[in-house]
Amino acid sequence: MEGAIQLINLGKRFIGDGVETVAVNRINLTFQPGSFTAIIGPSGSGKSTLLSLIGTLDKPTEGTIRFGDRDVTKMRTRELADFRFHEIGFIFQQFHLLPTLTALENVMAPLFARKVDFNKKERAESLLRDVGLEEKRNALPSQLSGGQQQRVAIARALVNHPKWILADEPTGNLDTESGKAVFNLLKTLNKEKGIGILLVTHDPNLARQADRTIELRDGSVAFDSEGLALSGSP
Ligand SMILES: Nc1ncnc2c1ncn2[C@@H]1O[C@H](COP(=O)(O)OP(=O)(O)O)[C@@H](O)[C@H]1O
Ligand SMILES: [Mg+2]
Repeated sequence: MEGAIQLINLGKRFIGDGVETVAVNRINLTFQPGSFTAIIGPSGSGKSTLLSLIGTLDKPTEGTIRFGDRDVTKMRTRELADFRFHEIGFIFQQFHLLPTLTALENVMAPLFARKVDFNKKERAESLLRDVGLEEKRNALPSQLSGGQQQRVAIARALVNHPKWILADEPTGNLDTESGKAVFNLLKTLNKEKGIGILLVTHDPNLARQADRTIELRDGSVAFDSEGLALSGSP
């Protein structure tokens, strides 16, 4: 299981006003390194919660998450921040770019106060080139289209060579064409650089193009194309 993400009896409950919500209900899944998985399901089915747990942005109330042989559910805050910095890039529906920074500065932002063994500016410039935005390096987010902002966010997610990209509805705020471009970029990163992708999406057309599709319902796995392939063979 070198480098695989393993979810073991993973659960998350929220308690508010005395009412308990089971957002993620004892999920068991494994994601192989370099795989491309789409996670679909109706609104409120637990997709974002699951992704936040896997990304160590939120803590589970039950179960274990392993990245290879590392149990991230046992890590402390400081250690987790370093772990995320080295292993995971995030992309969100709302881009979350810093409005007063240029495209180039936004890409470099995760490296602030970090020591790395590469040239930060050159790395950021080369990533902006990869996402087709070299000429927008000095533009502010407000001067970019939604699709361009999301491509800056993808460059930012890649800046420290993550093994995984976790994307929560990254095309949700984009028109069909820009959404396709963003999806194809993720696909290329997966195929050419071997980056593992977990993509939450509403769009069945995009989900179909992933290597694996998982559907959540009420916090549980209702469908897993991989499980189907295994148990469905004669
Ligand atoms: N911080 C929170 N506090 C209370 N309930 C939450 C919180 N976050 C999510 N939930 C609840 O957990 C369930 C799953 O939410 P979410 O993971 O956002 O679903 P999805 O991303 O599939 O729309 C929903 O019922 C939602 O209301
Ligand atoms: Mg969501």
